[in-house]
Amino acid sequence: MKIIVQIIGWFLGFSWETVQEPETESNDIMDQPLLGVGDEYISLGDGCSGLFCTGATGSGKSSSVGLQVIMNLLNHGLSGLVLTVKSEEIEVWQKAAAKCGRTEDLIIFGKDHHRFNFLAYESASPSGAGLTENVVTLLLAVLGSGAEKKGGSDTYWTHAQKQLIRNILDLLQLSGQEVTVSNMLQVVNSAAQSGEEVFIEEWRQESFCFACLEQIESTDGKARDKSTTAIYWLKEFPNLSERTRSIVVSSLTSLLDSFARGVLAELFSTTTTFTPEDSFEGKIIVLALDAHTYKDIGIKAQCLFKMIWQRATERRRITAETKPVFLYNDESQFFYIKEGRQDMMWQTTCRGLRVITVSLTQSISNYLAVIGSNHDEIFSYIGNLRNKVFLANGNHKQNEWAAKSIGQTEQWKLSINGNDKGQGGYSLGQQFMFDVPLIEMQRLKMGTAKNDYLVEGIVQTPGKVWEASGKNWVKTTFKQTQL
Ligand SMILES: Nc1ncnc2c1ncn2[C@@H]1O[C@H](COP(=O)(O)OP(=O)(O)OP(=O)(O)O)[C@@H](O)[C@H]1O
Ligand SMILES: [Mg+2]
Repeated sequence: MKIIVQIIGWFLGFSWETVQEPETESNDIMDQPLLGVGDEYISLGDGCSGLFCTGATGSGKSSSVGLQVIMNLLNHGLSGLVLTVKSEEIEVWQKAAAKCGRTEDLIIFGKDHHRFNFLAYESASPSGAGLTENVVTLLLAVLGSGAEKKGGSDTYWTHAQKQLIRNILDLLQLSGQEVTVSNMLQVVNSAAQSGEEVFIEEWRQESFCFACLEQIESTDGKARDKSTTAIYWLKEFPNLSERTRSIVVSSLTSLLDSFARGVLAELFSTTTTFTPEDSFEGKIIVLALDAHTYKDIGIKAQCLFKMIWQRATERRRITAETKPVFLYNDESQFFYIKEGRQDMMWQTTCRGLRVITVSLTQSISNYLAVIGSNHDEIFSYIGNLRNKVFLANGNHKQNEWAAKSIGQTEQWKLSINGNDKGQGGYSLGQQFMFDVPLIEMQRLKMGTAKNDYLVEGIVQTPGKVWEASGKNWVKTTFKQTQL
């Protein structure tokens, strides 16, 4: 039947086959295909070690590798988290879910009725670190996400930001105030701006920060915490240098401000209709806060949710029967969380956590630009995304890195030296050469009608020998498909 449909399709000039469907006889969910590679495939179990796909813009990442992976994840009943950069990605997931009978499982956060109050969730979180530490690391991670530079030594600013956030949260909790975004803003916006202001009656009368300080006097216990918090707000914060205070305060308040007004306030600071844990029970949470529509704050909001979700995956109880969950990010460099090496460290544990991370990006240069100077962190992170798919690329750094990671073997090389009078000679020598030369990466087919919708790629999986090549890498073809 499949053949007949294909033949009719050929006559009509298009392909009716929407995805490659590698077959397996095993019933084990971990043995089911994530990505077909010729007659073989990368399984869902393999996928728990991560899938990293690179290719120039327009090389076919999203429409071939990406779409096939999406269809396989959905067809095998998996659930997880989807981060988005382009607004059309949301439609792709909606169409794919409809095709796989999974529409009911979609939570399109940002476009439907769903709400998630992140501070209320963190307050109720069973994680052992406590609300203050949880929120401090979360907000620091979000502040440090993206390519933002703080304007000096990272350690210095991070320390100052950490102290500020910690003291806001401690003051609210010690004074019995609710931890909300607007209360956090009120504390910092009403804090004394100089050592002298602390002694001005008018400030004391009007400051929310001072009112909280007065309240902590009347509550019981935690004497040391109270005195540390009071010293910070009455002495340390007012005496910070003007420049430090303005940088540290403005980056935090501009972030909190985004969550205190408009659509993000509605989404993140009101009620809660779903939690990250829903994605462990069959739901697919699509963060429809794409960069096209929401710009930088959309990315920051997604990083915030991603980190909360990552922590939830660490609390999930895993047994031999536990189905994997997925984290799908196209244009993944946008969502890399460098603060505290969050993503690098989390990725090292994904196999045990049964999380399939799928990251699509143009090149490693995108990541290196985000991380700044600490390149080793990125190489470690990407190294832990074990399954690599390299599509056509013109980025030399990317091609060189890909060629090096695929490897070199000793090969025979014929050298001929001579002139036009026929004098000269030849030699045959052995030397180490790249298994896949850099130029080959530029010659791979990039899909579209011109190439019969075929996208060529090199798949590399350390520790696995592909039958088709007898090596740990194989050149293959993916179909560009449409929903
Ligand atoms: N099913 C399809 N049939 C024909 N052409 C397609 C199809 N899907 C995508 N294309 C075209 O193929 C090209 C590559 O598609 P795709 O969006 O997958 O590239 P990409 O590698 O994800 O690029 P980017 O890095 O810009 O996201 C695009 O120019 C697109 O217009
Ligand atoms: Mg794409």
